[in-house]
Amino acid sequence: MMRDADPSPVRLADYRPPDWLVDTVDLDISLHPTATVIRARLGMRPNPVGREGSPIVLDGDELVLKSLTLDGERLAGNAYSVTPSSLTLLAPPQRPLVLEIETRLDPSANTKLMGLYRSSGTYCTQCEAEGFRRITYFPDRPDVLAVYTTRIEAERAEAPVLLGNGNKVEEGEVPGTDRHFAVWHDPWPKPCYLFALVGGRLDRISDRFVTATGREVELGIYVEPGKTARAGYAMDALKRSMRWDEEVFGCEYDLDVFNIVAVADFNMGAMENKGLNVFNDKYVLATPETATDNDYASIEGIIAHEYFHNWTGNRITCRDWFQLCLKEGLTVFRDQEFSSDQRSRPVKRIIDVRLLKAYQFSEDAGPLAHPVRPSTYREINNFYTATVYEKGAEVVRMLKTLLGPEGFRNGMDLYFERHDGQAATIEDFLACFADATGTDLAHFALWYAQSGTPQLTVTGEWNPAENSYRLDVEQTLPPTPGQPDKQPMLIPLAIGLVSPSGEDLPLTLADGTSPAGGVLTIDSARHSFVFRDVPERPVPSLNRGFSAPVRLASNLSTEDLVFLARHDRDPFNRFEAVQTIAFAYLIEATQAVSSGRNLPGPEALIAAMAASLADPALDPAFVGQVLTVPSEGDIAREIGRDVDPDAVYAARRNLRRAIGTALADPLAGAFERFAAPGPYSPDAASAGRRTLRNTCLGLLAEAGTGDGIARALGLYRAADNMTDRLQALMTLVHYAPEQRDEALGDFYERFRDDPLVIDKWFGIQAQIAEPATLDRVRELTGHPAFSMRNPNRVRALIGSFATGNPTQFNRADGAGFNFLTDTVLDLDSANPQLAARLLGAFKSWRVLEAGRRIQAEAALRRVARTSGLSPDVTDIVTRSLA
Ligand code: BES
Ligand code: ZN
Repeated sequence: MMRDADPSPVRLADYRPPDWLVDTVDLDISLHPTATVIRARLGMRPNPVGREGSPIVLDGDELVLKSLTLDGERLAGNAYSVTPSSLTLLAPPQRPLVLEIETRLDPSANTKLMGLYRSSGTYCTQCEAEGFRRITYFPDRPDVLAVYTTRIEAERAEAPVLLGNGNKVEEGEVPGTDRHFAVWHDPWPKPCYLFALVGGRLDRISDRFVTATGREVELGIYVEPGKTARAGYAMDALKRSMRWDEEVFGCEYDLDVFNIVAVADFNMGAMENKGLNVFNDKYVLATPETATDNDYASIEGIIAHEYFHNWTGNRITCRDWFQLCLKEGLTVFRDQEFSSDQRSRPVKRIIDVRLLKAYQFSEDAGPLAHPVRPSTYREINNFYTATVYEKGAEVVRMLKTLLGPEGFRNGMDLYFERHDGQAATIEDFLACFADATGTDLAHFALWYAQSGTPQLTVTGEWNPAENSYRLDVEQTLPPTPGQPDKQPMLIPLAIGLVSPSGEDLPLTLADGTSPAGGVLTIDSARHSFVFRDVPERPVPSLNRGFSAPVRLASNLSTEDLVFLARHDRDPFNRFEAVQTIAFAYLIEATQAVSSGRNLPGPEALIAAMAASLADPALDPAFVGQVLTVPSEGDIAREIGRDVDPDAVYAARRNLRRAIGTALADPLAGAFERFAAPGPYSPDAASAGRRTLRNTCLGLLAEAGTGDGIARALGLYRAADNMTDRLQALMTLVHYAPEQRDEALGDFYERFRDDPLVIDKWFGIQAQIAEPATLDRVRELTGHPAFSMRNPNRVRALIGSFATGNPTQFNRADGAGFNFLTDTVLDLDSANPQLAARLLGAFKSWRVLEAGRRIQAEAALRRVARTSGLSPDVTDIVTRSLA
């Protein structure tokens, strides 16, 4: 059989402005479960900077055209051509005109969850990136900005709630029928990917917010009937986000209403449609009994993220999808800053950097590596990646580090002022910072263009004869797909020189100047910095706060790292010092396991952990991070080649057992001491105590010391919140196999009516590190609570297996790989986006040892050979094998 035609990629270099503009969109949408009618009236005109005399070419996707008029007249059949994926007016008059297009669709049959679909009966939409073309023919590109008015009509009993973008301007009955309607008007020009509508039987919680200039905004969160009691935290997070954006970025909300709708079937986390955010209900609904501390933190961060898009994304949008990081990287930076201000800044940084390394560094090191701003794509849905998001946020953070807080704010102010109402580019964004601060950012801009993680090698040497300290810094950037040769990057490296007494020495360079804020600018392959007036041997603290997203190697000894772990005034680097010791040990320990050697115990690491645990001045959340041993994925990434996941697993377990054994008393003591008094509260301080406590519990249970299992059982039974109950359950499932089935059964019975909690139950089982797990997962796909049609269920069971169970997904016999690829093929026609994301679990297959590498490649090749694959899966499998 022939392979599917592989359409040519989209290239940034081919960008042309649209030939036709759309000024107004009037939609009349009559909702029906299987035959929804869409009438679109487009007020169009030729683009003065477009190609003269061009046809009108509109995008479509699986559309059925019912009628078409131009200025009210039906068009002759030879005046246009139409297919399900496009509508072309061959020779339109070159003047302003009105097109009226009628299409009909079946939302109940839409399993891709793009365009108009139904979730538990509720009508909802998802248009980013290219879903609007599944609703009506339209120039579906983000640089076509129009003012939308939407009339939505539905049977009142089926959809008493009708929501659209902007403000509601009219509503009423449809006389003589059991239908009603609402008209929504959004005065702010927007690209079609921000269009949304919702219709359904939903309950609502409401509140209000008064903006900095005194305008009143009505806030609504809509949820499935009976779930309003779970939306309170989301509402609170929304109000805090709105205030924070005014205070920190000067951004005020700009409509009379702001609505959020939570739906159970959603491909992503949430979507920033103008005035009508649509959320995966997992990121809205929370009660202490059903949501963990991490769930609460995610809700806070994602509510903020989507709200912040109102300015970074909506008021200023992207010219084309290559500029995705313009809105996503910047908005991730903004939501990270928000959470840092709401919680503990150092702990937030530690968590964010962990995630960056886990997802982005591994992506950057593998076959799917791409620049923060890619220059070509085949399927844009596959570029909502850790690189665009997380590395994109790091690039914005570096900009702030380089320009200082004031310069950064001035640049942002200029960006909002200069580009409001526009579809902008990364060049536009950078020009604002360059102009506002008088800085040349041409070299810095390479962060958007070059993929791969820079490697810094730093050698420090104290010169007692000269009272000076010398730092030699070398940078390299490895080749990545399509980029064999690289130029040196501009890297802001925040450092300190820590004296033996633990003080930061003044940083004075040989020429008498001091690097502003302790930040060295590395802009070539090699640098030497000589600091004077250094009378004692200091320990350099490098890349403080993770000022640049780079890999760092240095000549610091274990003793130096132990010293930094105790004395560095930068909390991030205190944490990082412990991690560095742990990684060095674990890499060696993994080799020792593979070769059957014995390895001396990790005394230095245990001592550093013990010191943290004993220090009452430290934030418990921080100590919890220090005691968290790098994950199997982290270790595999640092090893980087010929990885045997079983050896990694064994090395990590041995280390955790050693810690749990050596520190049994202090760990048990901390478990007692940090019990939270009073009822559950999701605030950062209480959550931090639980993190620490539960980390201690895990170490004790793993080592079989300090009554770990008995404590876990007690915690499971007494827990008044999901954080503790879930941690206790995981501890029992992993370390007390004889208790496993009873505990899992109890948990299921308690929460069987709560799909979001049952997802946790699926996830835990999928992550058990033993050979029987694959069969268990297969069997669970037949469980009544499981459904291949719900993305949360699929991610909870199959996603957790593929990304959260390294030994079993990477089974030496290839059965884990084959299970995943079978699932991907099974899912692909119904929901290609979800299928492609699952297939992303192969992103590091090349670092595996030869036997597993061969199995992984064979599984990927089977996918590649399959005919009729979606563009989404074709793109991932092709790049993974390239
Ligand atoms: N704009 C995205 C949602 C989106 C993603 C639409 C991919 C279409 C394709 C939204 O702002 C977003 O980034 N959501 C994230 C969560 C966020 C906190 C990083 C998501 O959905 O995962
Ligand atoms: Zn976003």
